[in-house]
Amino acid sequence: MRERSGGGTRSIPPEKDFGGRGRSCKGGSAVATGGGGVYIAPLAMTDAPTLPILLVPDQRLRAKAKPVAAGDADRVRALAPRMLAAMYAAPGIGLAAPQVGEMLRLVVIDLQKEEKPDPVVLVNPEIIAASRDVATREEGCLSLPGQYADVTRPAQVRVRYHDLSGARREIEGEGLLSACLQHEIDHLDGVLFVDYLSALKRNMLLRRLAKDLKSKERA
Ligand code: NI
Repeated sequence: MRERSGGGTRSIPPEKDFGGRGRSCKGGSAVATGGGGVYIAPLAMTDAPTLPILLVPDQRLRAKAKPVAAGDADRVRALAPRMLAAMYAAPGIGLAAPQVGEMLRLVVIDLQKEEKPDPVVLVNPEIIAASRDVATREEGCLSLPGQYADVTRPAQVRVRYHDLSGARREIEGEGLLSACLQHEIDHLDGVLFVDYLSALKRNMLLRRLAKDLKSKERA
């Protein structure tokens, strides 16, 4: 997921992206269900090579990803730092494995609260509870660069996942974290934020994206 970072009334200085502007980001209480800290800070210091991010209409973005199995452990441990590197380089606040062509149920997020790296790697994430009240906020996606739209989703969610060590954990979020978790987990089922828009709005946005990408190609 990506937040708008320039242009429009919600613009913020690039250096201040995703931090320190009083967003309604009260959520983010991470509940550890295994030992140890939830956040894997050293991963933020990764110098892992980045990965190309697939763009709409790549059909891999529409496929359902497979659960990470025990035999995938090495692949996932190699992939997570590269996904974080790609996400930070974009820059974005969330990235799902299908967006880099890996059809696994793996998500990385970092809302960079207080402008500090705060990466979370979620293996096989699952929404186990969602609030009945909804919230609308603007979303963007690294696979649809430059496109933003208001999306309405449950205001709070609780997500169960495994961390890189295999420990089972839960994270609960509202505000930006809630939207980001739902947006990224959607990617694992081939769902994009534009799917929540009316057909008219969605087609407009997809046409604009195709046009933007074509003119970038020519440039
Ligand atoms: Ni996305």
